[in-house]
Amino acid sequence: MKIFEEIESEVQSYARNFPRIFDRAQGEFIYDEEGNEYLDFLAGAGSLNYGHNNPAFKQQLLDYISRDGISHSLDLHTEAKRQFLETFQEKILKPRDLEYMVMFTGPTGTNAVEAAMKAARNYTGRSNIITFTNGFHGVSLGSLACTGNSRHRGAAGVSLPGSSRMPYDGYLGDDLNTIEFLDKMLSDSSSGIDKPAAAIVETVQGEGGINACSMEWLQNLSAVCKKHGMLLIVDDIQAGNGRTGTFFSFEPAGITPDIVTISKSISGYGLPFALVLIRPEYDQWKPGEHNGTFRGNNMAFVTAKAAIDEYWSDDRFAKEIQRKGRYIEQRLNYIVEQYGEGNFTTLGRGMFQGINCVNGEIAGQITHAAFQRGLIIETSGADDQVIKLLCPLIISDENLTKGIDIIESSVRSVCSRIDDFPEESDYFDDVTVESELSSTKKD
Ligand SMILES: Cc1ncc(COP(=O)(O)O)c(C=O)c1O
Repeated sequence: MKIFEEIESEVQSYARNFPRIFDRAQGEFIYDEEGNEYLDFLAGAGSLNYGHNNPAFKQQLLDYISRDGISHSLDLHTEAKRQFLETFQEKILKPRDLEYMVMFTGPTGTNAVEAAMKAARNYTGRSNIITFTNGFHGVSLGSLACTGNSRHRGAAGVSLPGSSRMPYDGYLGDDLNTIEFLDKMLSDSSSGIDKPAAAIVETVQGEGGINACSMEWLQNLSAVCKKHGMLLIVDDIQAGNGRTGTFFSFEPAGITPDIVTISKSISGYGLPFALVLIRPEYDQWKPGEHNGTFRGNNMAFVTAKAAIDEYWSDDRFAKEIQRKGRYIEQRLNYIVEQYGEGNFTTLGRGMFQGINCVNGEIAGQITHAAFQRGLIIETSGADDQVIKLLCPLIISDENLTKGIDIIESSVRSVCSRIDDFPEESDYFDDVTVESELSSTKKD
């Protein structure tokens, strides 16, 4: 650890919670230099939906490198980019009846968000962006203005103008419709809210605590955006790429956002890659207005195409995610009921779920206990109070069960009710979806 302590910046975060030197990884497992195996329920904060070093793309990447395929190309046209675009159009956009121009930005999520907001601002000629409580959109200044978390905002060192915060779905309790509130604020010329260029939203707030909006709320948001002449930007950087059970997280709502940001798992291999999808009428960029040296990561194009071919050529993978999501939901509900003493709740949808422990200290103790049992899992939320399950979507049923078993025993140990609880073998009887998992296993 010496060199990390000596010269790596204090800004490290994940490394503090998992103080090991990691060396190898495969699928849902990661290994430290001593050969210890950990189940990875952090998965690159959602960048490894297809697992580590997925063999389905690894060989294609190796072949591409071996034949001296272009690695870096700015925004020049390349064969790898052509193949990615053709596959993305044929297998992702067309089957969903989506018509978008594809913009390659710098390879981070925050750069895609910056570009999305610029596009909306330049098109509408307005500057204000509606953002939501607990939203997280990145830490460069424009994105940070739309991010709620005070720890991140506090590091900016300057004021963060250009956005108006509104309550997310459920923020004011179940009975208050926050879209009606938004509509009222936008309709009132004295509300103090400048006419917005856009609203930017996550359908499940990853860093903000796995809050999931309802599809009805999303549909109403889309309608309010249209009514007030502002664009709807869905930030699908963490919730997209299948995490919630469909390629885009907004699909069940049947809406078509004006702009979508994508990053994290789009490369399939954990390689840096980000995209902005823009409806053609709003794609009014002049050449090079938003640029970046690393817009042409061809290795990412190769693995991104391979990931789409492998997992999104039909709906089998989506159904698998939905099935595993139902299993996660039932197991988490059980854990919360058994050990949460009426305080814990479950959150999220698909394979993007969590346990709200209300208290960040308890959640931290649970994730620490899980790490000691061989599971890497993180917290999220304003006070880090939510245990966030972000395992690779390709995880086997057996390892999904194993990971949740570890979460359960960690919750149980921290909540100090060990004596009151059934033996591990008993609780599977209660969680009936377990049999669904075994009976529908992949062959
Ligand atoms: C929804 C969302 N938007 C934007 C970002 C920023 O992405 P990056 O860290 O790659 O800049 C994140 C990162 O967690 C995110 O979850």
